[in-house]
Amino acid sequence: MDCSSVMVGRNAFLVLLLIGHISSGHAQKEFVAVFMENFSPEAGAHMDLYLTTYDKAAVVNVSVSNPHFYQTLHIERNSTLPVTLDTQYMLAGNQLSSKVITVKSDVDISVFAFNSLNYTTDAGLVLPIEDLGTEYYIFTPGPGSYNQFAVANGADNTIAVNVTFSGSLEFSGQSFHPGDTYSFSLQGHQVIQFQTFSELTGTRVVSSEPVAVFSGNKCHYGPTTKCDVIFEQLEPVKNWGTSFVLFPLANNTKDIIDIIAASPDTEVHVNQTLYRLQPGSHLSFALEKSDLVTTSKPVMVSYLFQDRAYPGEYDPFLIIVPPFQLNRKYYKFVTEAFYDNYITIVSTASSASEFYLDHKPLDQYKFTTKVISGFRSWEVFLGRVGGQHEIYHRFSAFIIYIYGLEIRVSYGYSMGQETKYPEEPVGPSVLNCLPHGGEFLLPLSLVTDAKLNVSDVHLEDPTCQGTQKGNVVVINVPFNRCGSKVLNENGKTVYVNTVYGTVPATEVHRIEIPLKCEMANNETLGWSFLPQVTDVVSQGHYIISLKLYQTEAFTDPITMFPYEVDLHGWLYVEFEVQSDDEGLQILVESCKASPSLGNTDKSYNVIQEGCPVDSTLQLYKVSNPRLQRFSLHVFKFSDFGEVYLSCNIIICHNGTTPNRCTQGCLPRRYRRDVFSSKLQLGSASLSQGPIVFKYGERLQNDQTLHTVPSSMLVAVILVMGLLSVIALVIQKHYYKREYNDLENRR
Ligand SMILES: *[C@@H]1O[C@H](CO)[C@@H](O)[C@H](O)[C@H]1NC(C)=O
Ligand SMILES: *[C@@H]1O[C@H](CO)[C@@H](O)[C@H](O)[C@H]1NC(C)=O
Ligand SMILES: *[C@@H]1O[C@H](CO)[C@@H](O)[C@H](O)[C@H]1NC(C)=O
Ligand SMILES: *[C@@H]1O[C@H](CO)[C@@H](O)[C@H](O)[C@H]1NC(C)=O
Ligand SMILES: *[C@@H]1O[C@H](CO)[C@@H](O)[C@H](O)[C@H]1NC(C)=O
Ligand SMILES: *[C@@H]1O[C@H](CO)[C@@H](O)[C@H](O)[C@H]1NC(C)=O
Ligand SMILES: *[C@@H]1O[C@H](CO)[C@@H](O)[C@H](O)[C@H]1NC(C)=O
Ligand SMILES: *[C@@H]1O[C@H](CO)[C@@H](O)[C@H](O)[C@H]1NC(C)=O
Ligand SMILES: *[C@@H]1O[C@H](CO)[C@@H](O)[C@H](O)[C@H]1NC(C)=O
Repeated sequence: MDCSSVMVGRNAFLVLLLIGHISSGHAQKEFVAVFMENFSPEAGAHMDLYLTTYDKAAVVNVSVSNPHFYQTLHIERNSTLPVTLDTQYMLAGNQLSSKVITVKSDVDISVFAFNSLNYTTDAGLVLPIEDLGTEYYIFTPGPGSYNQFAVANGADNTIAVNVTFSGSLEFSGQSFHPGDTYSFSLQGHQVIQFQTFSELTGTRVVSSEPVAVFSGNKCHYGPTTKCDVIFEQLEPVKNWGTSFVLFPLANNTKDIIDIIAASPDTEVHVNQTLYRLQPGSHLSFALEKSDLVTTSKPVMVSYLFQDRAYPGEYDPFLIIVPPFQLNRKYYKFVTEAFYDNYITIVSTASSASEFYLDHKPLDQYKFTTKVISGFRSWEVFLGRVGGQHEIYHRFSAFIIYIYGLEIRVSYGYSMGQETKYPEEPVGPSVLNCLPHGGEFLLPLSLVTDAKLNVSDVHLEDPTCQGTQKGNVVVINVPFNRCGSKVLNENGKTVYVNTVYGTVPATEVHRIEIPLKCEMANNETLGWSFLPQVTDVVSQGHYIISLKLYQTEAFTDPITMFPYEVDLHGWLYVEFEVQSDDEGLQILVESCKASPSLGNTDKSYNVIQEGCPVDSTLQLYKVSNPRLQRFSLHVFKFSDFGEVYLSCNIIICHNGTTPNRCTQGCLPRRYRRDVFSSKLQLGSASLSQGPIVFKYGERLQNDQTLHTVPSSMLVAVILVMGLLSVIALVIQKHYYKREYNDLENRR
């Protein structure tokens, strides 16, 4: 699932793209925001900017020149801090001011803006300055209420701006009518806000240098709500797109889509109908069901959420629909706890299990899915939780919509249109098959998580080692050396090798990744097993058990074996003695891992004489003396597909303290002081397993068509880790059935 097949072609362009994606830095350090007018300044309107870091800690300056505001924030890596601006920073009516909010960070961050008042909010993603442009068309969700837009200069120098209005308004004593142009200058850090009852959709903004443009409504009237703030930062014409997938959010059927053109005779195909738009003209319709939009020239598509299908009343929000441009596979986003929060994911990926939302496969969430022409949406309920979230897909790009619904107040924004975004913190492994050999990129964090050195990463020939480049370990895989084998499979030439991460001076591999460059992606793997483990022992008046858990919480026992694990996974092990006698104690005296239950000559000591031997072993403090818990990083043995864990447990009674159980780990030189076994109630040998490695789902055929020209070599990476290998086709079906059953029970 997480560690799954990746296909990459021989196409040089594609290869460059992938390498670039992993190793090059992206700038997303400077932002320009404004606090657009919210309907009632007296009611405590405020703007919360959420600043989110990725893999590096940030020092961020947030400033406004007049009224003066200056705050420096030190934000740890992978965290989010808010900055709140009160009503004095809010733009008021038709106004030229110096209330531009600039955000400057020393490393990549994301900025989310929530414009809030009790009972009305909207949110937007703030674009990095690289995404700002010099030509915009305004969309306002009117008519009949206070439409508004703002043009902000985040730079120090003066910028000339021409605004050609599509509606009527008064600005500092001057009257403008449709078609009139207002030429003015914005000095450094100045922002101008225009406000009118008239509709402003189609108004054109042109500037001598990039500006930030925001649009919305101060007091919008929805079908069931009055006076609701709406805002969104607009995308400049240079970032518009030509193909869009529209999925109704929250099962709505009356939300309003607007498509605005910038070029003469823009052909718009929607709902099997052809429309022709001129610059600044727009097509507006209610979105009853999923639809595709394709256009001959770039357009901007807005989505006004306003239906009342959700139980009860809730208010509108505005989102810009990102074009389906397929380049981003990882997002962090922010929600507020006051709302029922949702994420809708739009992708060409076929399976929910390939997405990881807050580190859990998406299929472990409750979701609603819709499909249209190879595109799919998943709407997932996130709950009433605030703070940062992460969503990740190993190899498919996707876009997201984030929204929060509550009676008479809601917010929404989208992500995916940005051209700059931080690199993935744990990028996927990538194998590039090139004419002279393969090049494998392994995220450095997988190596350090396994407590290995880069020099411990090698191919079948241990002298062919990886080298570190930034946060990636690069392993070159020549087709004729380093243990590479050339095979002929069904008439196709296939090159195979394996990347290992080996604990020095042992046979223990913490990383094992078979690499394969082949002509086609067609193979099946099988494995058979006969687990015969003893995970519970009942002796007289007590029962002693060994259980494995999926997470550190020790609340989700693994009940299905063989258990499939990830490359960078951990195992959570718990021992317990259950009895009516609360004076019992236990000690895990020894634990060994072995590739089969009977096989003792190839085994790896995890615990000996009560002492941790494995370097990744972590003991958890538990107050209950009848319980012991630990975790260890998964691993596997050379040439073996499975790993079993076998342990010896000593049971004592607290009436005999001090005894072997209270003694715990005994360093070697004290071993002759070990307490007599006469002080023990007994001992038990328990085993559990097998643990096998999880193979990912194959890429779907339709994705192959999207990304890989047909005549190329195709690489398949089978990424494995841990306590083992080999996925079972049968077993996968079994797991699927489990998930389906789970889904049905919900
Ligand atoms: C807004 O709501 C909060 C909590 O619901 C309340 O404490 C606060 O007084 C309200 N503010 C105004 C201006 O009504
Ligand atoms: C980032 O923080 C979240 C908690 O907010 C945590 O669940 C996640 O594991 C962290 N991610 C990384 C890459 O450290
Ligand atoms: C933030 O401001 C401090 C001075 O207050 C300055 O030294 C630092 O370079 C600024 N950081 C950024 C990213 O602009
Ligand atoms: C604004 O319009 C004037 C008059 O048409 C023109 O000379 C000027 O170049 C325009 N400015 C921009 C930034 O387009
Ligand atoms: C959409 O409909 C599905 C199926 O009826 C339901 O499970 C889901 O909760 C609905 N979504 C919202 C946001 O109401
Ligand atoms: C799409 O076309 C069908 C039939 O032509 C029509 O009934 C429907 O209202 C149209 N929907 C939109 C959103 O235009
Ligand atoms: C990594 O290698 C260096 C030098 O070869 C060595 O000093 C260090 O102990 C190694 N670290 C680990 C975790 O093995
Ligand atoms: C794999 O190849 C075999 C024969 O070469 C063919 O019968 C089978 O349908 C292929 N399977 C897939 C999934 O393409
Ligand atoms: C043994 O444990 C039981 C239950 O926790 C406790 O009541 C008893 O006092 C303990 N006895 C000794 C000798 O510590």
